[in-house]
Amino acid sequence: MDKKLRIGIIGTGGIAHAHIRAYLRRTDIEIVAGCDIVPGKAEAFLKKFEQNDARSYISYQEMLDKEELDAVSICTYNCQHAAPTIYALDKGVNVLLEKPFTVTTEEAAEVMRAEKRSGKILSIGFQPRFDKNMQQIKKIVESGELGQVYYIQTGGGRRRGIPVSDEKTTFIEKETAGIGALGDIGCYSLDMVLNAIGYPKPLTVSGFKTSFFGTDPETYRYKDNVTDPERIASKFSVDDFAGALIRLEGGIILDFRISWAMNINTPGDTIILGTKAGLRIPSTDCWNGTVGGPMTIYRQCAGQPVEMQVPILKDNPEDGTLWDRKIGSFLEAIRNGGESPVPSSQIIKNQAIIDGIMRSAEAGREVEIVIPEI
Ligand SMILES: NC(=O)c1ccc[n+]([C@@H]2O[C@H](COP(=O)([O-])OP(=O)(O)OC[C@H]3O[C@@H](n4cnc5c(N)ncnc54)[C@H](O)[C@@H]3O)[C@@H](O)[C@H]2O)c1
Repeated sequence: MDKKLRIGIIGTGGIAHAHIRAYLRRTDIEIVAGCDIVPGKAEAFLKKFEQNDARSYISYQEMLDKEELDAVSICTYNCQHAAPTIYALDKGVNVLLEKPFTVTTEEAAEVMRAEKRSGKILSIGFQPRFDKNMQQIKKIVESGELGQVYYIQTGGGRRRGIPVSDEKTTFIEKETAGIGALGDIGCYSLDMVLNAIGYPKPLTVSGFKTSFFGTDPETYRYKDNVTDPERIASKFSVDDFAGALIRLEGGIILDFRISWAMNINTPGDTIILGTKAGLRIPSTDCWNGTVGGPMTIYRQCAGQPVEMQVPILKDNPEDGTLWDRKIGSFLEAIRNGGESPVPSSQIIKNQAIIDGIMRSAEAGREVEIVIPEI
């Protein structure tokens, strides 16, 4: 077997657990270091997974300066995505960066410049890309069955699903998360449809965002893991609901909304309308990388409306979990010098839409989306 790839993990909070579990199911890597700014956290994390020879750090700069790493998983909160990624790439280390890409488009562009300088692999952590049913959506669009796609409605969300507890407020505070539901789950639903249609360039956006539920202590009153609802509500400084009308190159309209909390079961299924047929993708309660049930294709046949069901596809157990596929595709690209499995050149457009929604919501009007030169 080739030499084992030497892996480090930056940010050892919640999602780092999914990363390390997937790494440890493999035999072609070794975990050599972990880093978290909270003293003792990386050490405890590495111990928990019996990585007793791995070194722990509180500074990612020190870790990347001292260790010889092939790759890092960056699992820090959103506002700390760009800086460690740039530092790692500049050290010649391949990066698997958690979603959302960054908070602003300019940060994403800075990361891409570092990626270009380094020639290393940068993949963004969108594991739903590896779900068979998600992939089927792209296959349907690419088959031409829908004709020319001209309108998409997407998004979804939760009735009450703000990710917060007494111990963890990193998703709801502006200085750590930067963006709320929009960045947390909005990026997934944007990726689902934009990837299906080949990521056309976004041109303009008229967006809005609200935070009625996040800032209301009543939202947390009956949550088992919150003892002081007033404290949590006072910390809430991001969006819990957001949406936009986005114009994409090719005359396509994207109608999008996403929610962490709302008084309705769903803001609607995802629909992709084409000149030959339309596709309905049932929404899920929570963005977990799957579609909510069999999809339906609607079209005319000899003057009559007909409907066709696309059955839910089952995974092959030997393909592993979505996480195995996400980590595996990243490592394979490193070993074989291949393309990034979830490339920044696509995801910067996702980020630019999110950034545009934030700017438009603050300005109270439509704004242009400009993708910077890299
Ligand atoms: N792909 C997925 O399914 C998925 C699921 C959950 C979260 N995420 C993403 O993962 C990221 C982290 O989420 P989480 O739930 O693990 O959050 P978390 O708050 O539990 O963990 C983040 C950790 O990063 C550490 N950290 C922050 N800045 C750092 C720095 N400069 N250097 C070292 N450590 C630093 C924090 O101390 C914390 O321990 C978020 O961007 C989130 O959107 C992805």
